[in-house]
Amino acid sequence: MMTQYHKILRQSARDVLDRNWNGHFTRPAPSLYPHQWNWDTGFIVIGLATYDWKRVEKDLQFLFRGQWKNGMLPHIIFGNDPEARYFPGPEFWQAERASMAPEQATSGITQPPVFGFALWHAYRHAPNRDEAKTLLRALYPKILAQHAYLYRDRDPAQEGLAYICHPWEPGTDNSPTWDSALQRIDPQQVSIPPYTRKDLQNPRAAAHRPTQADYDRYVYLVDLFRSADYEEAKIAATCPFIIQDPLFNAILIYSTECLMHIARLLDEPTNQLEAWRTRAVAQMNAKLWNPQTGLYDAWDVVQDQRIEIQTSSGLIPLLAGIPSKTQAEQIQRTLEGPMFSSRDTWLCPTYSLLAEDINYEKYWRGPVWINMNWLLYQGAKRYNLDTVAERLRTDSLELLNRFGFYEYFDPRRKSGTREGYGTDQFSWSASCALDWLAET
Ligand code: GLC
Repeated sequence: MMTQYHKILRQSARDVLDRNWNGHFTRPAPSLYPHQWNWDTGFIVIGLATYDWKRVEKDLQFLFRGQWKNGMLPHIIFGNDPEARYFPGPEFWQAERASMAPEQATSGITQPPVFGFALWHAYRHAPNRDEAKTLLRALYPKILAQHAYLYRDRDPAQEGLAYICHPWEPGTDNSPTWDSALQRIDPQQVSIPPYTRKDLQNPRAAAHRPTQADYDRYVYLVDLFRSADYEEAKIAATCPFIIQDPLFNAILIYSTECLMHIARLLDEPTNQLEAWRTRAVAQMNAKLWNPQTGLYDAWDVVQDQRIEIQTSSGLIPLLAGIPSKTQAEQIQRTLEGPMFSSRDTWLCPTYSLLAEDINYEKYWRGPVWINMNWLLYQGAKRYNLDTVAERLRTDSLELLNRFGFYEYFDPRRKSGTREGYGTDQFSWSASCALDWLAET
């Protein structure tokens, strides 16, 4: 039942999305993120679909203008606002060096492939399913091309797992999982082009956002890619950071499955999708599953070794039906055990509570992120883990209600903080709330 508290929260969430709409697309946040972001848009359209289908269409149309000719969907599509202050901007990416780049200004790397599932979840909210089908028909081949790109160019060994080549690609920028691979880049030893960060406007930002050394390495990698004119084979051969991430791949697999639902609606064949899915699920279990911890790990392709760092990304394969029933029970114990759960914390910290270097305030090194809770919630529901699913939902809504639509939150219930961290008015926090509230 929709209570008064839910109604107020729903209105505030819509207000956030409405304010972040700039006439062409929904920005992730009013000033920190003034352009269009790839996976943010996926979450945003699910929430928008609960009340404004026209904007779902416009947001997605703008995003796909940025798709590269090889199918790659860039992580940022740059808008035209001359006031927008963001680094790295189009002049730094120099995407035009790539023969595959479109006319639209974009970055040169990708983000988690959310659109198969985003479109499917949005469609389920659509007020007029016939009208919505027109959008499905228009976008289906483009999303298929994106998946073909990932399973072709990002999986040269044809294993069934796509790699990421920059910590911005999985969306979990400074996750501790990336530390060991990033250590290969010594900012004192390599040449890093001059740059000025624009993400430290908020006085508290330095404590909460990635460090200078992190940024030097992010910039070094971008410089490497643009020097290679964004040619995939050159990047695969020279990049010190090539990783198979369980979050990125679980999202790819879930999107592939949702594309199969869409294909059936549109009378399109599903064999290719089915083949990708079957191979990928088998490889996730053969290569990334860790029976000791009950989590899926990331794999360092450069060193050909497992990265044993316990983050919530390792729980997300529930979303895509990847674990068997027994594995799912083990994941449930991990999620409800001391690594991710305690009486004094909100679900779900992004890094193990048992890790000595957990940082409750720093970005992807501990705080709760609402989109991760949404993905986990979907996974828990899928395996009928209803109690933990409900905790994920109520913890998320309560965090948003108490502190506002922030980007991330301190997982400690008694942290003493009165706000969330990062930027306020954050679109996907609002959007995930709208999806949950539509179920109430
Ligand atoms: C941050 C997040 C990333 C997100 C972007 C825009 O960089 O780490 O996942 O897409 O902000 O919101």
